[in-house]
Amino acid sequence: MKKKLNVAVIGATGMVGKELLAILHEQKFPIDTLSLFASKNSQGKKVPFGDIELAVDELNPSSFDKIDIAFFATSSETAKEYCAIASKKGILCIDKSSAHREDLSIPLIAWYANDEELNEVPACRIIAVPNCVAIPLTQVLKPLQQEYGLRKIIISTYQAVSGAGQTAVDTLQQQVRDLFNMREPKLGVFDQRIAFNAICSIPNKGDFDINGNSEEEAKVINETRRILKEPDLPMAATCVRVPIFNGHSMSCLIELQNDFELEAAKRVLANSDGLVVIDNPQRGIFPTPLDACGENKTLVGRIRKAPGMKNTLLLWACSDNLRTGAALNAVRIAEFLCDKL
Ligand SMILES: NC(=O)c1ccc[n+]([C@@H]2O[C@H](COP(=O)([O-])OP(=O)(O)OC[C@H]3O[C@@H](n4cnc5c(N)ncnc54)[C@H](OP(=O)(O)O)[C@@H]3O)[C@@H](O)[C@H]2O)c1
Repeated sequence: MKKKLNVAVIGATGMVGKELLAILHEQKFPIDTLSLFASKNSQGKKVPFGDIELAVDELNPSSFDKIDIAFFATSSETAKEYCAIASKKGILCIDKSSAHREDLSIPLIAWYANDEELNEVPACRIIAVPNCVAIPLTQVLKPLQQEYGLRKIIISTYQAVSGAGQTAVDTLQQQVRDLFNMREPKLGVFDQRIAFNAICSIPNKGDFDINGNSEEEAKVINETRRILKEPDLPMAATCVRVPIFNGHSMSCLIELQNDFELEAAKRVLANSDGLVVIDNPQRGIFPTPLDACGENKTLVGRIRKAPGMKNTLLLWACSDNLRTGAALNAVRIAEFLCDKL
């Protein structure tokens, strides 16, 4: 029997926080006490945990007394400040934000891609969870890397608004309502209208680096290279926000080092624990982001050779960004380490 732990979820009222609670309940995570925290605005608010509702407290530096493990599902700024406080108290912090992903002294773990790096609770007491595109992408690339080697990756993403948090979901809902009622929609958290539109900048109001990559594109590239231990892997990403409520998709062009038989490559993907191959396009069978919602695995289809391009595979992948791309990965890390705390 697993040791029962005192668990805290920071950001319990948010999109990832609520999914985390659902998964902790669903997986029967060994919980002794469960403490929920969010901002001052949520003090006293109730959030569901299975059949019951639990009250949320405002996060403050003394929130971590008697906690063994803390899941962070907040902005990077809040995670940075409070992971420092909690980890100094010996609490294992599993951080869904991007605050610690570039720090090479902190493990960055994507399940089914580099979980073999995780043996013990790290001395720093913090583990970073990768970006919601980097997780499914590395799950797709890892088996291909092992079998054929990787030479070059080009992806375009189609990312749901839930990836930008609760206020982005609220914005899309409100804009759709306004448009159907012949009212001029307000922009909300986006600079351009998201309803019936597509925005090729994530975040919408973010910075671009010297290569012209958005913050999301830079994260996907850097994290993928780090997880796959290929720091110089040639890679390009175009990340696009689309008016879908949940479920990220991506189109991937994958140049391999070695030649491959298409059916053998499909088998390599199908035999990988993190993936489900759904691929019979002639009969209208391929993954959609809707299919991926609520699924624990990344769905892959439209697998084909790129005509005229040597050793190059094309495919389409869909995953639940809140679950596979965020909360489930965090819970898997915790499940693996809970007996070692
Ligand atoms: N959404 C995704 O698909 C996804 C995927 C991967 C990673 N992530 C990352 O996960 C993190 C959370 O994302 P999300 O989508 O869940 O965002 P969200 O829906 O906006 O939720 C943010 C959470 O942070 C809380 N919060 C805000 N200020 C706080 C403070 N000062 N102290 C304590 N809690 C505070 C909010 O509480 P209130 O309700 O009280 O404001 C809310 O619970 C972000 O870093 C995001 O980049 C998200």
